[in-house]
Amino acid sequence: MNNLEQDYTQPLGLDVGTSRVVVARAKDKKQEYDSQLNAFLTLPYSKLAESLLQRENVFHEVQGADIVVAGNDAEKFAEVFHVETRRPMAQGVLNPEEPYSLAVVRRIITRLVGRAAAEGQKVFFSVPAQGDSLSGAIRYHEASIRQILAELGYEATPIEEGLAVVYGEMAASNYSGVGISCGSGLCNICLAVLSVPVISFSVPKAGDFIDAQAAQVTGERANRLRISKEKAFQLNGFTSDRVHNALTVYYQEVISNLIGSLRAHIASAQKLPKLEQSVPLVLSGGTAMPKGFLDHFIRILQSEEFPLRLSEVRVSGDPLHSTARGALMAAQC
Ligand SMILES: Nc1ncnc2c1ncn2[C@@H]1O[C@H](COP(=O)(O)OP(=O)(O)OP(=O)(O)O)[C@@H](O)[C@H]1O
Ligand SMILES: [Mg+2]
Repeated sequence: MNNLEQDYTQPLGLDVGTSRVVVARAKDKKQEYDSQLNAFLTLPYSKLAESLLQRENVFHEVQGADIVVAGNDAEKFAEVFHVETRRPMAQGVLNPEEPYSLAVVRRIITRLVGRAAAEGQKVFFSVPAQGDSLSGAIRYHEASIRQILAELGYEATPIEEGLAVVYGEMAASNYSGVGISCGSGLCNICLAVLSVPVISFSVPKAGDFIDAQAAQVTGERANRLRISKEKAFQLNGFTSDRVHNALTVYYQEVISNLIGSLRAHIASAQKLPKLEQSVPLVLSGGTAMPKGFLDHFIRILQSEEFPLRLSEVRVSGDPLHSTARGALMAAQC
């Protein structure tokens, strides 16, 4: 096998997120990433529109009377055509209210990973941990993603997103610690000891919650708020700007809810292993990115005694790739 073939048959890590799908590949002892927005829009079919999209090399598919534009191109064309993008997933799983959900996720995953170079090539893909809002939905979601990957020739294994963060961030502590991914649909949390998950759960208040709630109280569109939040928002207290203040209120609610749930899960754990050493807590995901997030998180964490000894609390150096990187590392084990 030459080097090129070896590259292609190496395991992959895949983060199937509510707002973005990310693939991680090993390249020269480092990781390489590729991603697509997990979004789409539909346009009424016409021969002209289809040939224009084809000519512009736009990622699309004809589905009956519609043209479905998916991935990064969806956002670009939403602006051109003044339509809203739609999401095939909601709260970490395939959206049951969206008839195109499975078809769009299949297209996006296929575009990112392609056909397996050899039958049985390994891929680990992220799934959410159980949470109050999800009940049985995870099983269907997981089976559907596994099936898509199996059809492409991969041997696919699910990994809970919080555990993927532990794999991606905590080699130095022997994969012991608390990994948290603050995404758009969910926050996923995992306490692992020597790579074995001890507590794993998800909570439904995350980025989408902030956008939707802030939109409701300001009368702005959630998508517009999301864009301004991603561009410039800092968690640095109240100002004279009402949009900033609304985002602040719901950001603070996300953080309090996350820490409250973590305390409650640790307190109610039946058999918590005795940890000889203190362990790290690492935050990742797009929602953990604004300046001020970590300071506020630490302030709330320290406002009451915390039932675990923590060696450090930090935000990942690469929060948007942490889950895919961890899934890749798990696949390489
Ligand atoms: N620079 C940024 N500042 C603030 N928020 C951001 C930034 N970049 C992305 N986000 C927000 O982070 C969220 C997306 O994060 P991420 O890509 O980790 O989610 P996901 O993995 O797709 O979702 P999930 O894990 O919930 O299924 C969105 O709510 C987005 O608005
Ligand atoms: Mg995620």
